[in-house]
Amino acid sequence: MSKLTIAIAKGRLQAEAVQLLSDAGLSLSPADLASRRLTTEDQSGQYRFIFVKPSDVPVYVEHGNVDCGIVGRDVLLESEASLLQPLVFTIGKCRIVVAAPHGWSNNGGGLLRVATKYPRIAANYFGSRGQPVEIITLSGSVELAPALGLADCIVDLVETGLTLRENGLTVFEVIADSSARLVFNRASYQLKASAVRELIIALAARSTRQAQNYD
Ligand code: PRP
Repeated sequence: MSKLTIAIAKGRLQAEAVQLLSDAGLSLSPADLASRRLTTEDQSGQYRFIFVKPSDVPVYVEHGNVDCGIVGRDVLLESEASLLQPLVFTIGKCRIVVAAPHGWSNNGGGLLRVATKYPRIAANYFGSRGQPVEIITLSGSVELAPALGLADCIVDLVETGLTLRENGLTVFEVIADSSARLVFNRASYQLKASAVRELIIALAARSTRQAQNYD
């Protein structure tokens, strides 16, 4: 059986993804997990794991350097990668929203300044509504932008809502719901079909459903 390499998004999704894999019988060594190693194998030696920034998961998988990955839908919506998405998981649930200071209203007049870590999602969302916007791309702590006068509103990920609340912001619109997905490189999916099938069967019990659309 071909060995599969699986990219796992570091950060908020990592612990849940490792638990999901372990529940499915893909056990990672606790010593490796506790170390700063960015690559490890499961105890059967059938899977290799790499840990990378969420936005890099689709890059590695699309280029075929790794066969598949576990990553949030938010990252996939922002990425232009062409990947197969056979499974939708319940882990990593969050929403991509438009948020702004309490009392703000989007009256559609003038150029709206939008700060975000998701410039493509934001541009597509406001573009589909025909609203002219200036997208200001930040790398993090986006919630600061309205208070500092950099932007009128933000497009960002919300999980518990705590960061918005503690920074005086409120949700105005929900753009998309997100949770983790299993994604595959298109060539790996064909060339390593039997290993792919085995992994999907192992993880399917932990997924809510198969994605309606494999893309
Ligand atoms: C994300 C997001 C929000 C926060 C939301 O940032 O951009 O800032 O989490 O989570 P909450 O609704 O549970 O409060 P992250 O923690 O990934 O850090 P970053 O701002 O440095 O990107």
